[in-house]
Amino acid sequence: MTRKWIVGNWKMNGSLSANQDLLHAIHAGLSTASCQAAVCVPAPYLAQVQQQLLGSALWWGAQDVSAHEQGAFTGEVSAAMLRDFGVRVAIVGHSERRQYHGETDALVATKAQRALAAGITPIVCVGETLAEREAGQTQAVVKRQLAAVIHTNGHCISEIVVAYEPVWAIGTGKTASPEQAQEVHALLRAQLAAATDHPERIPLLYGGSMNAANAASLLAQLDIDGGLIGGASLKAADFLSIVAAASQ
Ligand code: PGA
Repeated sequence: MTRKWIVGNWKMNGSLSANQDLLHAIHAGLSTASCQAAVCVPAPYLAQVQQQLLGSALWWGAQDVSAHEQGAFTGEVSAAMLRDFGVRVAIVGHSERRQYHGETDALVATKAQRALAAGITPIVCVGETLAEREAGQTQAVVKRQLAAVIHTNGHCISEIVVAYEPVWAIGTGKTASPEQAQEVHALLRAQLAAATDHPERIPLLYGGSMNAANAASLLAQLDIDGGLIGGASLKAADFLSIVAAASQ
């Protein structure tokens, strides 16, 4: 893995005017970046973002995708609809969706499948809660979460991106240490190696309070190929600092 990935997760933040300013500032500062940068925005803003970023090196994506192809699923957004708006990547199985929307490992695996079928790269999130870490279950939890995705998507598993996001580090200001993150990333890489001949092609992102100050040390780890950035992706200067750290 040579080119690193920096993906912003705006979560449920933004407005037409705020997005315009943020994208303008990011786009303006991105010219020298040699990493793959993307922003995952709320679905209603995809048209705006597509219009503003057309032709830009910055990709845009979604934060979720329906497990269904089409039909009577009120409120859902299908992978094909996302594709209509130029979406290249979609986060699936973010811990906030697992926690607040009851998303299971099997559902997340199906969402990844729908994305892949539409030509969208799923960014599959895995990660343990604080209670699970303290109970020594970190490895078992992330292995179980990834195993479901491998089981359903085995033949095209090298097309996915994986994000390790310890739940206790998300939005808390508590980052996993580079060593803690690397330990889990190495485990995920080994698990992927059993499923594909080219595990090194699958970007493994770290997420959870990654910011301008800690990005370089996390990104220096052997198996950390990029970052999934929440809070710090809402400020252009912070996001661009992380992009710069990933472009070294
Ligand atoms: P954070 O969020 O960077 O604000 O911790 C990361 C994420 O939830 O993807």
